Amino acid sequence: MKLRDENMARITTIELANEFIEKQVKEIRDQVKDKKVLLGLSGGVDSTVVAALLIKAIGKQLISVHVNHGLMRKGESEAVLELFEGQLDANIVYVDATDRFLKLLEGVSDPEAKRKIIGNEFVKVFDEESSKLEGISFLAQGTIYSDIIESKGVKAHHNVGGLPDYMKLELVEPVKSLYKDEVRVVGRALGLPSSMVDRQPFPGPGLGIRCLGAITKDRLHALREADAILREEFDKANLTDKVWQFFTVIPDITSTGVKDGKRLDYWPVIIRAVNTVDALHCTVPEIDYKVLKHITDRILSEVDGVCRVLYDLSPKPIATIEWE
Ligand code: XMP
Repeated sequence: MKLRDENMARITTIELANEFIEKQVKEIRDQVKDKKVLLGLSGGVDSTVVAALLIKAIGKQLISVHVNHGLMRKGESEAVLELFEGQLDANIVYVDATDRFLKLLEGVSDPEAKRKIIGNEFVKVFDEESSKLEGISFLAQGTIYSDIIESKGVKAHHNVGGLPDYMKLELVEPVKSLYKDEVRVVGRALGLPSSMVDRQPFPGPGLGIRCLGAITKDRLHALREADAILREEFDKANLTDKVWQFFTVIPDITSTGVKDGKRLDYWPVIIRAVNTVDALHCTVPEIDYKVLKHITDRILSEVDGVCRVLYDLSPKPIATIEWE
């Protein structure tokens, strides 16, 4: 089946997006009728736009499940809830599975084993929650065009799970013919805030692969706080739109620090920022020294247990974007 007619105009304007939305709303209503649709809402751009599109089409017949695996960035699950429950008055099931994930990850240091545990548990939690719901006939997914054409490439290996086969639900995939930039325009046309629509890519395993080695609660906390400071300061310095992806990483080593005349073991925090068009080749942006210094000062004074901040200057290749 040909998904995307190459003559189809690229959706670059709100007008074109509105046309697309109108057509999709009609198609969704025709497909779903009065039945219920389930959606796994990660908070990423694709699932958020699909949710907003479905809410426009079928309102409360959409039930979105947001699983917080405890590895989200600071405030992200709260932002998802505030948007969907607060502003869009949507039907949303929120599951805080933090303890389950952290317990399973205890002592696991191999990155691929961590990814596998997070992916499998995610499917399990989603499955448990959805089996409590009655009368679901459809499963909506934020599949986009590149997921389909690259399904044998990086994305497939990176994706967090999928539904088990026995959940035989008919699929609703309203943005599967769109490229990422088009999904963002559609999101804007649906009135979603830029903080959702222009979101940078966030790996399914989340902070789990940025808290290097075996995850501990205290290092995860330090990582999340440092990451929040980085985001705040990049925003203030107008860098959020100019840098493709940026985040902090916390290694599982300590380094000597000194506080009140006492020598102590503390953690270093690494800032990673990259620019790229395809995620395969990346350069490292030249961030103003003053901005880096200010971020460093804030992390060192506000985040407990951290005594050093480093800026990673390594391009991809040879270094991947994520540290593990
Ligand atoms: P790397 O580290 O391979 O990252 O240079 C390329 C892009 O993929 C993201 N990434 C992941 N996304 N699950 C995901 O969903 C993963 O396990 C994963 N690992 C890396 C990374 O953030 C970057 O955007």
